[in-house]
Amino acid sequence: MSLAEFIATLDSVEADAIATLRSIVDVGQLEDARVRFLGAKNGVMKDVQKQLGAIAVADKPAAGKRLNEVKTAIQSAFDESKDAIGAAPAPKSLGPLPDPTLPGAPLRMGHLHPVTQTIEHLKEIMGRMGFSTAEGPEVEDPWHNFVALNIPEAHPARDPLDNFYLGTAAAIAGGEAAYLMRSQTSTVQIRVMETTRPPVRIISLGRVYRPDAPDATHFPMFHQMEGLYIDTDVTMANLKTVLRVFANNYLGGDVEIRFRPSFFPFTEPSVEVDFYWNGNWIEFGGAGMVDPAVMAAVGYDSDQYSGFAFGLGVERLCMRRHGITDIRDLFSGDVRFLQQF
Ligand code: FA5
Repeated sequence: MSLAEFIATLDSVEADAIATLRSIVDVGQLEDARVRFLGAKNGVMKDVQKQLGAIAVADKPAAGKRLNEVKTAIQSAFDESKDAIGAAPAPKSLGPLPDPTLPGAPLRMGHLHPVTQTIEHLKEIMGRMGFSTAEGPEVEDPWHNFVALNIPEAHPARDPLDNFYLGTAAAIAGGEAAYLMRSQTSTVQIRVMETTRPPVRIISLGRVYRPDAPDATHFPMFHQMEGLYIDTDVTMANLKTVLRVFANNYLGGDVEIRFRPSFFPFTEPSVEVDFYWNGNWIEFGGAGMVDPAVMAAVGYDSDQYSGFAFGLGVERLCMRRHGITDIRDLFSGDVRFLQQF
């Protein structure tokens, strides 16, 4: 075979292979073309290569060079076609299509925790009496948790055993002012009075922390609703009215509440507020008239202004309303319990 004939054969194989590969539309055709042109046993290129033996020795280098060029060109055309059709293996059967008319899997809807629901409800009732909501931090300094509330350094309420201090025992023993998890929401009274002038009419709801042993009515983390009303001529009668209207709205028109004389360093006079439940009086908060020492700490003139404050246990209100008998159930994380509210 002459070199010219060999090259003419190669040209025609190249043209045929490239045209075939460019017209390919699926993986099956691609595989057929590969076997036909590039197949190792009976591929067209293999046949042509065999004819190389019949070429004169002097022409072999030129023939071999052209053979390799055509092989490379066909291989590139093959690769391009493969990319173009996505080169994915033949799709497997997807099985029967899903039935879009079947009902979907039911969504599991959560809801707010009963304590959060209670907080929203209390805000709504107090909002109707003109109280707006204030916020304060849960990590407090001694000034807001104690000093400004007329609780001096040596007061037993500051005992490390009654508070969650956030310092080392050595630092606290050394008299270092330590931050603590607030033990009452009365801290927010101070924060509000420090930044606003009377009249003040706010509530503040949030978490407080005390190292109390858990039992049916105590938990080391619980929530309080603080209330503060400062204006000219505010009296204890206003306090009683607000708390009674609140209790009747939240717990029902027939609920009985009572005031019991008590003591808080930041109110004078002070009372405990109880409601009647299952034959017993249950304490749900403390209250009183804002002490002049507190007014002085925040720069209010106690000759011009007077006011009342109260702090109620949110869990105890929630429990009374829903008939919950153990506060620990609220924080057990048992969804079967929580789903009931
Ligand atoms: C106070 O915390 C005062 N700051 C309340 C106050 C505010 C008085 C403003 C005067 C003026 P007391 O420590 O009594 O008071 O707590 C108030 C309420 O929080 C209690 O009546 C109770 O309902 C609730 N409470 C107290 N300790 C716990 C506890 N460990 N678990 C659940 N609720 C609690």
